[in-house]
Amino acid sequence: MARRKLIAGNWKMNCLKADGVALAKAVASRYKAAGQPRYDMLMCPPFVLIPAIVEAAAGSGVAVGAQDCHAQEKGAHTGDTSAWMLKDAGCGYVIVGHSERRTNHAETDEIVKAKAAAGLAAGLKVIICIGETLAERDAGQTLDVNRRQLHGSLPDAATPANTVIAYEPVWAIGTGRTASPEQAQEVHAMIRAELTGRYGAAAAQEYRILYGGSMNAKNAAELLAQTDIDGGLIGGAALKVDDFMAVGEGSPK
Ligand code: 13P
Repeated sequence: MARRKLIAGNWKMNCLKADGVALAKAVASRYKAAGQPRYDMLMCPPFVLIPAIVEAAAGSGVAVGAQDCHAQEKGAHTGDTSAWMLKDAGCGYVIVGHSERRTNHAETDEIVKAKAAAGLAAGLKVIICIGETLAERDAGQTLDVNRRQLHGSLPDAATPANTVIAYEPVWAIGTGRTASPEQAQEVHAMIRAELTGRYGAAAAQEYRILYGGSMNAKNAAELLAQTDIDGGLIGGAALKVDDFMAVGEGSPK
């Protein structure tokens, strides 16, 4: 079964409102003008910009998502945002378990799994991020680390329709150092094999597995041509409309 590619932009903590809206409008109009592109597109701005970006992307087919959510529906959690609030604001997706959250906010697999479960319960699609550090890769632990994070972070309610996995090697994020297509494919193939063991071959073939880490207009086509790479989770290059669009437009058919 052909998996439809997902080109997702993680804006991280970037863009004031005017710049974010201009970027979102440009992406939305280019995507819409392309007719029915063979790939899905998603923009994940900072929380505070979500309503403005939802409005800017309305009617274009480009989805909007958030970069994190709390595991609870509501309550005394100062500074946090629930998945239900994100859904209410017009989000279709939420990213959970990004390595910057795991590192800066000490998020464990258990926490990531609870956040992913909340996202699904709220009716969002979740993008669950996993990835090894350079020290782990150098120690030959790449597949073990990713396997452990995958199983530790996947909630029981995950299905290919509501869950996307993103492999983001930590050493490739924001460094300009991309995993080679072979390095990425090796991990993606392992992820699909683990999904096969867990859900059966038919479902595993439907799961989308994204690559993230210094993906850009130049290196995307080769990465996206790999058997088990079904899209990208793009940071820096998603902040420039030409670069972001080029990733999708250049993706193999
Ligand atoms: P860069 O594309 O800036 O390396 O960021 C990748 C990333 O972390 C996306 O979530």
